Amino acid sequence: MTDSTQQDRVLIFDTTLRDGEQSPGATMTHDEKLEIARMLDEMGVDIIEAGFPIASEGDFKAVRDIAAQTENAVICGLARANFKDIDRCWEAVKGARLPRIHTFIGTSPLHREIPGLSKDEMAERIHETVTHARNLCDNVQWSPMDATRTEEDYLCRVVEIAIRAGATTINIPDTVGYTAPRESAALIAMLLERVPGADEITFATHCHNDLGMATANALAAVEAGARQVECTINGLGERAGNTALEEVVMALRVRNDILPYRTGIDTTKIMNISRRVAQVSGFPVQYNKAIVGKNAFAHESGIHQDGMLKNAETFEIMRPEDVGLKETSLVLGKHSGRAALRAKLKELGYELGDNQLKDVFVRFKALADRKKEIFEDDLIALMRDMETDAAHDRIQLKHLRVVCGTEGPQTAEITLSIDGAESSVKATGDGPVDAAFNAVKALFPHRARLQLYQVHAVTEGTDAQATVSVRMEEDGKIVTGQSADTDTVVASTRAYVTALNKLLVRREKSAPEAETPPAARKGAS
Ligand code: KIV
Ligand code: ZN
Repeated sequence: MTDSTQQDRVLIFDTTLRDGEQSPGATMTHDEKLEIARMLDEMGVDIIEAGFPIASEGDFKAVRDIAAQTENAVICGLARANFKDIDRCWEAVKGARLPRIHTFIGTSPLHREIPGLSKDEMAERIHETVTHARNLCDNVQWSPMDATRTEEDYLCRVVEIAIRAGATTINIPDTVGYTAPRESAALIAMLLERVPGADEITFATHCHNDLGMATANALAAVEAGARQVECTINGLGERAGNTALEEVVMALRVRNDILPYRTGIDTTKIMNISRRVAQVSGFPVQYNKAIVGKNAFAHESGIHQDGMLKNAETFEIMRPEDVGLKETSLVLGKHSGRAALRAKLKELGYELGDNQLKDVFVRFKALADRKKEIFEDDLIALMRDMETDAAHDRIQLKHLRVVCGTEGPQTAEITLSIDGAESSVKATGDGPVDAAFNAVKALFPHRARLQLYQVHAVTEGTDAQATVSVRMEEDGKIVTGQSADTDTVVASTRAYVTALNKLLVRREKSAPEAETPPAARKGAS
């Protein structure tokens, strides 16, 4: 890790795999988590929060395996304020070259009520748990959850206790996205001034975006002395999300004149990881999202285009290539060969072995037969599809034919393979998509409710592929499915089937372990 004692160096703590993945429906597979962690490490993230090891066996394994594979970044796991959580966290991170335990407890009046602890009892708990974590690991981060709604005097008291118990980083979370920039700065300044020992540890800022101020709040905290920013790729996270990594990093770079701080991030890797996180989380990036949105560097209006042609700086404060966006959009066609495909995919961040390339090439040719021009976004959609229709999925779409038009009823005839056995059915519905979904439901009855159905054209033109996202909910479990095809009904049905497959995996996954009883000491046995 880079030495944070350099006054202008801001550490980037990425929590896409923990706070980001906590967003309902954003669940990633084990391999996807390892891949994202690799990309984060390669782009120069200082600390990767890889998960919440006690939450499930899957989370534990992901943190453990990320710890084992990571070459540069510190690997951090989250733990509540009890010995059982902390021990499990240590088990998961201890194989890292640079491990960190991050333990937290809600300190605001509302959060103190939940475990029913008095101020003194909570202070005691913080002392015990941070001491315990520090006995296991030299690198301990402590967070007073809902810090921005905690009484100042009490916050100072518990931060001092955590520092005395050995915490090396104190994170100040704005858990519900309540604060505003001036207040965010004042809080860090107040802690630095009032808490003994505050100058010997690193203060971190962890902002949520409920009022759309997460980036502004994080930057204000940095100006006041915070030297670690907690963030996620694309601002992924519960509710309105977390501070977006790309926004903080690019703001510090573009406005270095007034924000004279440095990060270790290779900004040219931003676009690739943004796309990948959007794909694996099933949360598409909004078109007008700062830095990574599809329109962030597009200039539609005549005045803008004219200015841009004369001098790009007229309307551009950063260059597209600074964030890894390449000029070329038309990339391949029907006659492109395997080598060209491999090179283009490599540029987009996909390194394929020979066998994988063979499969992708077959799909690419099939697409090129239906669509004259293949753009980067088509290739990305194709790769995502290749990843989601894994051969081991329990439900697979084998055949689909729909009848639609001005005269109803719209009909779908479908064949699914479920656990290896094929069966077919014909169903009707309000439109072809509804008919297809009804047919799937007839063959695979389920209680899941469709929460979201979204269609986006991947590129322009009537032969464009449609990317369809569906989100479904069953007993509080939320899953998403995505698929792309030049046929919208096919893409919709595949996305629906993908979501059902994810639901089956979630049903099999064991429930998170229950909260350990308040007395942390009892958990030490
Ligand atoms: O938002 C929050 O308070 C958190 C803590 C666990 C750090 O994510
Ligand atoms: Zn958070």
